[in-house]
Amino acid sequence: MTSERVSKQSRPLLIAIDGPVGAGKSSISDEVARRLGILHLDTGAMYRAAGLYTMRHGLDPHDEAAVTSALEHADIGVRYVDGAQRTLLDGEDVTGLIRTQEVSDAASAVSKHPGVRARLVRAQRALAESTPMLLDGRDIGTVVLKDAPVKIYLTASPEARAKRRLLQYREQGEEHSFGEVLAAVNARDDQDMHREADPLRQAEDAVVVDSSDMTFEETVEAIMTLVKAVMAKETLHV
Ligand code: DC
Repeated sequence: MTSERVSKQSRPLLIAIDGPVGAGKSSISDEVARRLGILHLDTGAMYRAAGLYTMRHGLDPHDEAAVTSALEHADIGVRYVDGAQRTLLDGEDVTGLIRTQEVSDAASAVSKHPGVRARLVRAQRALAESTPMLLDGRDIGTVVLKDAPVKIYLTASPEARAKRRLLQYREQGEEHSFGEVLAAVNARDDQDMHREADPLRQAEDAVVVDSSDMTFEETVEAIMTLVKAVMAKETLHV
């Protein structure tokens, strides 16, 4: 009796989007969440804040024991201002400080440590506990929200991702060769997919969206169609 009642109860709309670096997860996720009127949690920003913390405290981000114990004292969180995520480190808004190459490298190193991951996964689950939300990262569908009603693996070929990255660099006035950027994309894939703790992989029940030959709008639309199909079958609230 109760199981029938429970299954008909509405649960919050939770969307998990995982995928490799450069697949456009952040900007696509922002737009999908905006169209659905739900919050977007960029979980990579939390690993970046953890990386920044180790830099500020002069720690070697690869030193698992030192980093794991130091981060127990760090307060990493988020808040939303007009629907946009602000990332907080010990109460300071560090949103504008976490996109540098140094922070990126530190984030990649600290994200390998199981103790660091456990803390951040706990924080991410707490944020998504009762609020409809879209979370993007590497382990959302496989670890953070295994029961998310919508799981998407957003990917693109390494060449397509390198081409997009090259354009971004050009817009910033930076010149790099295609080969150099492609090698960096492949190296980051290798790190994300082959680390021991929660490597990037497609959840068995995730739907793959390959955006190699799709525009931004086409990719957003493809994801919106998948979300609406799930919402037509299940009672989910936004
Ligand atoms: O998506 P991003 O580049 O901002 O992520 C920063 C780093 O954090 C990157 O090295 C991958 C890692 N990360 C992770 O291990 N798990 C997540 N859920 C999100 C990011």
